[in-house]
Amino acid sequence: MLVTLKTLLDEAKEKFYAVGAFEFWSLDSVRAILEAAEELDMPVILQASAVELNYMGWKNVERAVGYTADKSAARVALHLDHSMEIKWVKLAIESGFTGVMIDASHHEYKENADITREVVSLAKPYGVSVESELGRMAGLEGAVSVEEAEAFQTDPDDAARFAAETGIDALAVAVGTVHGFYKTTPKINVARIKAISEKADIPLVLHGGSGTPDDKVRDAIQAGICKVNVCTEFMDAFKKAYQKSDKPSVAGLFKPGYLAGKEVIINKIKLFGNK
Ligand code: 13P
Repeated sequence: MLVTLKTLLDEAKEKFYAVGAFEFWSLDSVRAILEAAEELDMPVILQASAVELNYMGWKNVERAVGYTADKSAARVALHLDHSMEIKWVKLAIESGFTGVMIDASHHEYKENADITREVVSLAKPYGVSVESELGRMAGLEGAVSVEEAEAFQTDPDDAARFAAETGIDALAVAVGTVHGFYKTTPKINVARIKAISEKADIPLVLHGGSGTPDDKVRDAIQAGICKVNVCTEFMDAFKKAYQKSDKPSVAGLFKPGYLAGKEVIINKIKLFGNK
């Protein structure tokens, strides 16, 4: 059943677990995510950025993914990931999404807050939840590449101010994770997550879940993370399974990808849900 992002994250915050947010790009990937959530009896977030949504076709997503998610036995939020432009936010609201992320984190604080406020005023009348980001992560964020050296982490006081001034439902924080696989040993700043969550009473979001060590993820969740984003590990499971297959048939070529992807999701949901 489709529910808002806020519904899922407020509940997770209260109970000290995190909801897995997984990127989809096809019905196979949607199926892997929903089946995993249903089997574990846990909520889940289906998310895609404009890049994936343009590839799939927004109408197809609205009709096929929105419908499938709403019929699921699991509680599901359909979320727009990393939107750099207001036009994608509007399209997501029109397309039945229950959450949107505006990513204006490459701007200075004031511009980021102004853009975020505009998104909140667009989304709230439709009951659509809003996630925004403060601080910069290393790696590739949508279309904007942030060099590791340039990246800076979220300031706890700014985070509290940003949440209060914008009226967002969830805040993505930069605390040492990267998008994509890590090139060096990850250094996750759990103390910073704790400091942010002590000052800002809002569900926090950890981007760059792939390759982040399980013990660090657990600590991050206990410190205040309520949503963990995973894309690369999920996609990589499909890719490796496809590459191994030498059977040019639907079941031979595609089923191993969906099964390998589903296994990744099952393990992540268990980890994030303290199961
Ligand atoms: P990974 O690709 O590192 O899993 O990050 C996904 C993400 O944060 C999407 O917003």
